[in-house]
Amino acid sequence: MFKSLPPIENLLRRILHAQDIAELDALEHECFGRKNGVFTIAFTAISSLKPNLRKTDAMSLNTLKTQALAALRDQRAALGKANRNTLAENPLDLTIDLPPSPRGHLHPIPSFMEELEDVFGRMGFDVAYGPEIETEELQFDLLNFPREHAARDAQDIFYLSLPAAPGNRWLLRGHTSPVQIRYMRTHTPPFRMICPGKVYRKDDDATHSPMFHQVEGMMIDRDISLANMKAVMIAAVQELISPETEFRFRTGYFPFVEPGLEMDMRWRNEGEWMEIAGCGMAHPNVLANCGIDPKSWQGFAFGFGVERMIMIRDGIPDIRLFFENDPRFLEQF
Ligand code: PHE
Repeated sequence: MFKSLPPIENLLRRILHAQDIAELDALEHECFGRKNGVFTIAFTAISSLKPNLRKTDAMSLNTLKTQALAALRDQRAALGKANRNTLAENPLDLTIDLPPSPRGHLHPIPSFMEELEDVFGRMGFDVAYGPEIETEELQFDLLNFPREHAARDAQDIFYLSLPAAPGNRWLLRGHTSPVQIRYMRTHTPPFRMICPGKVYRKDDDATHSPMFHQVEGMMIDRDISLANMKAVMIAAVQELISPETEFRFRTGYFPFVEPGLEMDMRWRNEGEWMEIAGCGMAHPNVLANCGIDPKSWQGFAFGFGVERMIMIRDGIPDIRLFFENDPRFLEQF
């Protein structure tokens, strides 16, 4: 028989003990590698024999080759299965811990205004919004401002150079009272409403900003007095800021209320008084201008400055901090 048949016992044992695919690949190469594979060499050697001598050896060699191929295939399958079993027992953990991304939050003004809507909402107040570009008629005329009133001055109000009806002008609203006019024209008393929003005036210092926020409101019914007004305003502010606050009311002039008052606030027994609202009993002319009979209905109106309340709540010295968007300020809320 052909002398150099591959040492198949040894090869089969090594194949069946291979620990991983790489070792198996190496053994397959050792058997069938194109240059030095033991089978490759043996087949070349056989082909050089005389045909009559070739036959038996070729048959034995083919049997060995089949055994080797089968062993390689079986062990390859066995290793693959073991691999899958390990995967099932120890599934790969594909979660990735990304670095935490910072979460934003509402700016202190809209967040405070949400609270305001909530507090007044629980006292039965509806919420209404209106445009920031208004007419002189809604900003002044219907609110009982005389034509020559100083508040109409271009020193205070931003007028727009848009064409308007004769005797009227477009402007950026300087208070949210026009929303009350719009509301009174479209609702019948009794009602309670607030109107939060942005307003614009030509003011600019530590406690005044050319754009700021107000929440005005009114309550109209048959028998409403200043006592109801004070109760509502004090309850709202104490809930929004703290029961440890105190208030004083001074007389003040606003053409659309009679009598008119200003409300100041401070922490109990300490700090400076700061004006936070104008208020008073809705003027009969204003009710009549909006189709509400002042002989049957009466009520109060008020207008809070939103920034000022937050300034008192959090001890903020300068209103301009709200609008500079400095993260060192905003992140404190
Ligand atoms: N509209 C007034 C202002 O902006 C505030 C106010 C509202 C005063 C309601 C009295 C009553 O100054």
